[in-house]
Amino acid sequence: MKKLATINSLRAWRAEAGNAKVGFVPTMGAMHAGHLALLEQSCRENAFTLVSIFVNPTQFNDPKDCSSYPNTLGNDLELCREAGVDAVFHPQYGDLYPDGFAYRVEEVERSSVLEGAMRPGHFQGVLTVVLKLLVLACPGRAYFGEKDWQQLQLVRGMAEAFFLDTEIIGVPTVRDADGLALSSRNVRLSPKARTLAPEFYRVLSTAIDCAMARAELESLGFIVEYVDQRDGRRLGAVRLEGVRLIDNVAVD
Ligand code: PAJ
Repeated sequence: MKKLATINSLRAWRAEAGNAKVGFVPTMGAMHAGHLALLEQSCRENAFTLVSIFVNPTQFNDPKDCSSYPNTLGNDLELCREAGVDAVFHPQYGDLYPDGFAYRVEEVERSSVLEGAMRPGHFQGVLTVVLKLLVLACPGRAYFGEKDWQQLQLVRGMAEAFFLDTEIIGVPTVRDADGLALSSRNVRLSPKARTLAPEFYRVLSTAIDCAMARAELESLGFIVEYVDQRDGRRLGAVRLEGVRLIDNVAVD
């Protein structure tokens, strides 16, 4: 597995892959079985798989959240190697942002609701870094988790809007046996909060409507940021002992 630390080394690796099918999985590291599902699907469907590991500061509305983001690089590289990944791109901020984030991608219709309403500027940072990475990697396919449903839809929309030659593939959410969606943040839950956390998924899936879901979650002790329903999907964000969890389910 190649470790690519610079833009030039990524360009050289990509040139060598030539016309072969390249699958791309962008991540911020701190990998778990949710990330693994993306890596494994890409390895199955493409001749080469490229993974990026970059904690993107421009998408964190709270700088403390960015500086405390778990760094498990050694373990991440091992997981990538075991999954059969061909190359890992691990750039520095200055490499990806030579413009200092003066140029940005802004979506003006669907990015200011739900996650966007709670985290101002978040999707500007996400879309900007994803566009930079897609332009550099030129993948035939790029893989994103349904866990971040709004992110997946916005990336798909951006790829269409800018005629990117990359198919955006959505991968179903990987959950623990009790239903809790895997997330790098789950390790921050106390044992008590971890026991309660799966109720978030259960209530989202079973409540008759969003108002009932909110009321039930609040009665269980969750602080509810939003529960909303659109395009056949019910999406929610909650806090449990200060740890933020998001999830979404299909609804009829
Ligand atoms: P990160 O949170 O590291 O997630 C990387 C990818 O893994 C995303 O597409 C995310 O939706 C997916 N993922 C996370 N948990 C998952 C789960 N339980 N099941 C399935 N997929 C899961 O999302 C980001 O990074 C960043 O915003 C990024 C796209 C890399 C841009 O910086």
